[in-house]
Amino acid sequence: MARIKVELPASPAGGKERSYDILVGIDSLADLGEIIEKLSWCQDILIITDPQVNNLYGDKLRCGLKNIKNSTIEVPRGERYKNLQTASKLYDALAKNSAHRDSMIIALGGGVIGDLAGFAAATYMRGIRYVQVPTTLLAQVDAAIGGKTGVNHPKCKNLIGSFYQPGLVFIDVKTLTTLPARELRTGLAEVVKYGVIEDADFFKFLEANSHHLNTKAFEAPDTLRAALKVWEIIVAESAKIKAKIVARDETEQGLRMILNFGHTIGHAIETLTKYYAYNHGEAVAIGMVAAAKIARHLDLLDKESVQRIVNLLDKVGLATQAGGLSARKVVQALGIDKKVIKGKLRFVVPEKIGKVVIKDNIPTRIITQALLETGCK
Ligand code: NAD
Ligand code: GLY
Repeated sequence: MARIKVELPASPAGGKERSYDILVGIDSLADLGEIIEKLSWCQDILIITDPQVNNLYGDKLRCGLKNIKNSTIEVPRGERYKNLQTASKLYDALAKNSAHRDSMIIALGGGVIGDLAGFAAATYMRGIRYVQVPTTLLAQVDAAIGGKTGVNHPKCKNLIGSFYQPGLVFIDVKTLTTLPARELRTGLAEVVKYGVIEDADFFKFLEANSHHLNTKAFEAPDTLRAALKVWEIIVAESAKIKAKIVARDETEQGLRMILNFGHTIGHAIETLTKYYAYNHGEAVAIGMVAAAKIARHLDLLDKESVQRIVNLLDKVGLATQAGGLSARKVVQALGIDKKVIKGKLRFVVPEKIGKVVIKDNIPTRIITQALLETGCK
């Protein structure tokens, strides 16, 4: 099992340890109970999950929790339930179970469950411990790490929330084998992102192993074994990169913004298409291509590197063209992005594979040109 540490300063109030481990293994879910027991972290646990994930993995997790009192609450599936009403139901369940400061939450599921359960943990009794057990690729490489918790508001996604770090992130990559192909691909956009922003060797590893990175590889026993080994490396490497960035800039004052590579245009595309035509990773993939083309126009990135980014996204089945969206409308939608700070839109652009810079004041003309070259009209 790989172990990655997210190094954080102890809490100023009381000096409480806040650094935590990310454990990445294959078929390891049933071992979590013993690990938690040994840590003596809690007297009782509320598992927060959704019906699909509970069905697939609830029993496996619970069978390891033999000696700790636990109960499970299911939240309906889907982004539209990531709201204050659902959070309120979680508080009801915690109160009904007489949860106290020695109680703990386990978030078992994708990013929606992780964000919701983390938010409930951050706010119930001013904060109780929680463990992230992410079961989608997106949650394993991104959402479960770094302590961003929260819920949506009718006016804006993730508007309400707080930075509140988990006590442990426990990842069993075998859970990826039941993901629909589209869910696997959406996480792959974040994986490719890590290679571009931080690690050229990791990018090369992805290029060399792209044939493992699809649900077909899970179908036969020998390809499954090989694919899981590759996934263990990929998830651990991605977690390492995210952990390093979070450790240096926990509350996104500067460096953590590089995690938004591809997300500025990606969010604009999601907003414009009303979160319907593209899921998050698909929109981010197109956003990464457009950002790479912006970098090319700024003479920061060479043509070959742009092509390598396009090729890798293509190989893992992600769209690299925006399918005729209006470039003007995408530019308009950029104006309302959360990354607008003091009136300036910040773009994360690559200088080479493995290194990005943050730029503002990029002329609209260049953004439009890059969008036109990325399939916009
Ligand atoms: P999701 O949580 O909606 O999960 C997608 C679907 O997959 C769900 O219907 C779920 O039931 C199903 N599922 C989960 N695990 C499964 C498995 N192993 N097998 C089969 N089905 C499974 O989607 P997501 O992409 O994981 O997360 C998206 C959310 O994450 C968004 O709300 C986004 O805002 C948030 N997010 C948060 C952060 C952060 O830093 N906190 C970062 C990125 C994204
Ligand atoms: N998903 C971006 C971040 O955690 O900062």
